[in-house]
Amino acid sequence: MKRLIAPSILAGNHACLADSLAVVEATPGVEWVHIDIMDGHFVPNLTFGPQTVKDLRPGSQLFFDVHLMLARPDQYIEPFIQAGAQNVTIHTEPSYDHHATLARIRELGATCGICINPGTPVNDLLPYLDEVDLILLMTVQPGFGGQSFREDVLPKIETVAKWRAERGYSWRIEVDGGVDAITGPQCRAAGADTYVSGSAFFKNPDKAAFVAELQD
Ligand code: DX5
Ligand code: ZN
Repeated sequence: MKRLIAPSILAGNHACLADSLAVVEATPGVEWVHIDIMDGHFVPNLTFGPQTVKDLRPGSQLFFDVHLMLARPDQYIEPFIQAGAQNVTIHTEPSYDHHATLARIRELGATCGICINPGTPVNDLLPYLDEVDLILLMTVQPGFGGQSFREDVLPKIETVAKWRAERGYSWRIEVDGGVDAITGPQCRAAGADTYVSGSAFFKNPDKAAFVAELQD
């Protein structure tokens, strides 16, 4: 599977997100951008709504990978896909109909992902393996960029990669949080193929080299 880096515009400048998106777009080799949606309930922070995604959409060729950190993601699937989300990832932890929500995402023409926090058992993903295009393993507690990578998540990446190899699945294995030039290769070695990177990407003066190092 082709390895992909998905820079997170959470680490960009929120007063001029289009400029931050342009930085991502201008980096050779980057095909995806990661957009973090937070509601102040499921996570203790607030970010963007569908209108932000909609306004960013026309200026970009990037694949919009939208990560919903919401207590009720099921109520926001349609607005985000209409706004231009191409993959929508939802969490297992809150209470709502996860299966119906994944099905709805696909029905509306996007791909779907399921995500767990660092403290959530990896087996909580098992009910969704046949229903998703992507599995996202949080490598920090979600809510804020710039946190330290949790090495204790590496065995979970290995477990999920083993499921994929043994059972013939083709979903992506994405990691999110604290991914940099040191921890990214650790995730790759454990079996991840899709790397969200916020702070490390935006701070890196040689973005193309950082991307090439992880993707190649
Ligand atoms: C954290 C978000 C991440 C965040 C990662 O809640 O889901 O996508 O942007 O940022 P860094 O790479 O700075 O940890
Ligand atoms: Zn994210």
